[in-house]
Formats: sequence, C-alpha cells, structure tokens
Amino acid sequence: MSSSLERCLALLSSHTGLVFDRREQVEARIQTRIVELGLDNEAAYLHHLSSPDRMRDEVQALASTITIRETYFFRDQDQLSAMVGWILSRAHAERGEPVMIWSAGCSTGEEPYSLAILLEESRTLSPVLEYKIVGTDLDEAALEHARKGCYSGRTLRHVPPELQDRYFEPGPKERRLMDRVRSRVSFVPANLLNYPRLKARGSRDWRLKVAIQAEAC
Ligand SMILES: C[S@@+](CC[C@H](N)C(=O)[O-])C[C@H]1O[C@@H](n2cnc3c(N)ncnc32)[C@H](O)[C@@H]1O
Repeated sequence: MSSSLERCLALLSSHTGLVFDRREQVEARIQTRIVELGLDNEAAYLHHLSSPDRMRDEVQALASTITIRETYFFRDQDQLSAMVGWILSRAHAERGEPVMIWSAGCSTGEEPYSLAILLEESRTLSPVLEYKIVGTDLDEAALEHARKGCYSGRTLRHVPPELQDRYFEPGPKERRLMDRVRSRVSFVPANLLNYPRLKARGSRDWRLKVAIQAEAC
C-alpha cells in the first residue's frame, strides 16, 4: 500500500475514531472516490482531506464502508429493560419533569425507537412520564433512514407481533412507525469525537442540550 493511502486511512481513522477492520473494502472505496472526484492519485486525495469541510464530505461518502451500521429493534433487551426501569424511577422521583435520553451512535434509529416503544408501553405504570430521545450518528444517510421511520422484516424480527400491530402501520414492503413514537425521537448528526464542540453547541440547540444532559446523568 502506498504511504499516501496509509496516511489517508490514518487521517480518516483519527477523525472518526474508527478502526477499519475491512481495510481492503475501504481502500477500494477510496480508489473509487479518487476517480469520482477527478483526482490524480492517492497523494491528491490526501491533500483533499486536509480541508475540514472536504473531510466531512468524505466521511459521509465513505460512511457505508467505514462504519458498521448493524442494528435492529430490541437488539439488547436486558439493557433496554434496565434503561426503562431507570427512566421510570427517575420520572417518578422528578414528578413529571421530562426525562432526556441520548442514543449515541444510533445508526438507522432502531435503538432509540425500541426505547420509545417500551416507554410508551410503560405508560400504564407511569402515566405522567414525559421524555424525549435524541439519536446522534456521524453517518447522515443512516439518520435520514431513521427519520423516515420505515422498516422491513429482518430488523423487526425481535418485535413481538402485538407490538408491531400497535406501533407500526402496515405497508406493502415496509412497516412505518406511528407518529406518536416518531415524534418522541429526533436525529442530529454528530461525531462523538467532537464532544467538547457538541457540549458548546448543546447550549444553543435544545436537541443537543437534552442529549448532553442525558449523558451527564
Ligand atoms: C453498530 S452501530 C450500533 C447502533 C445502535 N447503537 C445499536 O446498538 O443497535 C454503530 C454506529 O456508531 C456510529 N459511529 C461510529 N463512530 C462514531 C463517531 N465517532 N461518532 C458518531 N457516530 C459514530 C456508526 O456510524 C454506526 O451507525
């Protein structure tokens, strides 16, 4: 591998915090990007990455290759149940104050939506429960998918049929989450490695403010 390509990978890795375990695929995707951008070679691509704006664009262009998007509804049920218990106890202790939750690295949204479904289910136990969930990810295409709230078979495989009927509208190919769940969750692009900047931005942006508060709890 050329030293320029090696340095491109190192730069992308330090910008995202990701370790590339599918290096050959990432290298092949970079070669495609070099052609798409009309650049001469890997050294030119390395120079291209030196601008923060262009680096951001490249992370998006490479996102489906450099990140692992794997997620599905109710992926880690024990963790979700523990989280719901904690949220209910907090809602009870704070007597109706909204609970703010951050799903960091939320991919296509299944994790925050799973939590929202379980919280809706727990309304009988805690009718006053008020909550908001923010999902963040550096992969903006994944967040776009999340905002639509449409999902098909495989990712729904652990959702019991009665919950599918209660929270999803049927469709020919995909099921769409009902608005009462979707409205609880918002999605914001953010690189976790920019945490100090996120914190500063959080003071101006309610969605990130709630996220940072949730993280600090
Ligand atoms: C394997 S998915 C996990 C999704 C979900 N949390 C779950 O457990 O089902 C990991 C996600 O983390 C995101 N990610 C990785 N590094 C990140 C970073 N530095 N900042 C923000 N998101 C990141 C990826 O884009 C990917 O969507």
